[in-house]
Amino acid sequence: MNSERSWDFRENQELVASHEYIQEGYIIEKADFQYLKLIKQDIERAYFEFVNIVNKETYNLENAHLSISHEKINDLRLFIMQNIYQNTSFHRNYYYSAKNIIHSLCGNELAMQKRPGLSINLPQNQNDILPIHADTWNGVSPFELNIWMPLVNCTESMCLYILKRDDYKRRLKQSKELLRLTSDELYNELCDDLTWIPIEYGQILAFDQSLPHGYSLNKEQYTHWSINCRFKGLHTPYWDKKLGEYFMPITVKNCTRLGMDYHHPENWI
Ligand SMILES: [Fe+2]
Repeated sequence: MNSERSWDFRENQELVASHEYIQEGYIIEKADFQYLKLIKQDIERAYFEFVNIVNKETYNLENAHLSISHEKINDLRLFIMQNIYQNTSFHRNYYYSAKNIIHSLCGNELAMQKRPGLSINLPQNQNDILPIHADTWNGVSPFELNIWMPLVNCTESMCLYILKRDDYKRRLKQSKELLRLTSDELYNELCDDLTWIPIEYGQILAFDQSLPHGYSLNKEQYTHWSINCRFKGLHTPYWDKKLGEYFMPITVKNCTRLGMDYHHPENWI
């Protein structure tokens, strides 16, 4: 082993995952299905309630565009989010469904986003486009890991797109003016270098949100559903998104708890 690695005790499996994440800017893993299933059930239940569907057998998330109009989609999104965040069971299931990859890339003493984001992109709905951006351009800490889960199979324009790390570096090197462009100009400029990431329900995408990413117009025949949530090492720096507001501590270890409560003996010399 060379001297550079002599103080790096990460296990081989973790190093392989980390290498891929660094190289590509993302990694796809299998979710722990027993927990993922509960996440999807919670979302479906809220969706059926909103659209007043009684015969649940004949409806599914992929075909949501058949029962919801473009105008109602934001109300639906807010209704579902309000519904699933009433207690922490949704968050717990989310964490456990992705625990392996979170621990590999981020650590085991963690803070978790209090209100994960829900995306519902109806076919041909211009309003569902998420303009190209990197979260770190807007005050988000680069220590965060975004765990993104599809609730339906995503192909082609239903997928999240990302500019892979090498491409981002190359394009930034080629033009220092790149980040002065508007998001539409930037998308057109980078379009040929973007990667739309195909992913199926049952898989998890862990991605680096300091790389440019977004959603283009959904040109497929099905509705896109996904949920995204940030995790970060509890003791890593916080930028605009604060602990106790945006992030909640979820796995505070015993030594941290004891350390926070520690009082030095009085009159100690
Ligand atoms: Fe983002």
